[in-house]
Amino acid sequence: MQHLIRTSDFTKDEILSLFDNAREFLKFEPNDILKGKIIVTLFFENSTRTRSSFEIAAKRLGAEVVSLDVGTSSTSKGETIFDTVANINAMNPDAIIIRHSECGLPESLVGYVDCPIINAGDGRHSHPTQALLDLFTMYEHYEGELEGKRIAIVGDVRNSRVAGSNRRLLPRFGIDVSLVAPDCFKYESNDFKQYNTVAEIVDEVDIIMSLRSQLERHNLTYFESLNEYAKDYCITKELMGDKNILLLHPGPVNRNIDITDEMLKDPRCKVLQQVTNGVAIRAAVLKKLILA
Ligand code: CP
Repeated sequence: MQHLIRTSDFTKDEILSLFDNAREFLKFEPNDILKGKIIVTLFFENSTRTRSSFEIAAKRLGAEVVSLDVGTSSTSKGETIFDTVANINAMNPDAIIIRHSECGLPESLVGYVDCPIINAGDGRHSHPTQALLDLFTMYEHYEGELEGKRIAIVGDVRNSRVAGSNRRLLPRFGIDVSLVAPDCFKYESNDFKQYNTVAEIVDEVDIIMSLRSQLERHNLTYFESLNEYAKDYCITKELMGDKNILLLHPGPVNRNIDITDEMLKDPRCKVLQQVTNGVAIRAAVLKKLILA
């Protein structure tokens, strides 16, 4: 049985095969590949895109979805997450999708289940299906020609699990990753070129991945205001000019802090295409893991 905890759980060939399936699923033709299967979602952190796209993907493949409302579950009575998952597993689901704030939690649940565990985001560690859909969006845009493409990942690259998964995944496909962040959010590593502002690198990249500025949580201690952060990290029309750059963001976007309203409407910005691709990639992941 195979789980998806991090993108390295799949070989390059497996990922390319996922992309072939995802391309088919983008036609959104009804099918019953997973008819009779039951998928449980356990989201201990908020989500719009990941949870709904997994649920839509599952339903489009004919599966039933049970979404545990963790706010009203027995975790509030002191039940451990391990017991919660063991009890869900005892009901014989075909996959469990979990998001949790604790790094490594999905992996630690593997020994408690008889079905695939899919990591839908664990703390600052990994968000494998996001990185796979990001890569798929690039792969389709460049018709598979990714070798040597340069990407700047911009923002809180230290704390972002999306950045973490992409840092590990994209170089496997020949993409040259640079990181752009203020000192307080720099990722300590000599493996990547590091920049202080987007302006320093915008002339050299093919792709910009803007990250959500999680300033509402912990970052305002470093900046006087959101606008001060935005001066160096917001993707604006002025920065982009008429450059041929693919602009991505995992969502949710903080408008005019991460990307301006104007750039969100620009045809180079593929944020909503990423969301559409997310359904197709997650459908491909469900098919692969459940029918393996
Ligand atoms: N990109 C992403 O993980 O979005 P959600 O938090 O809405 O799932």
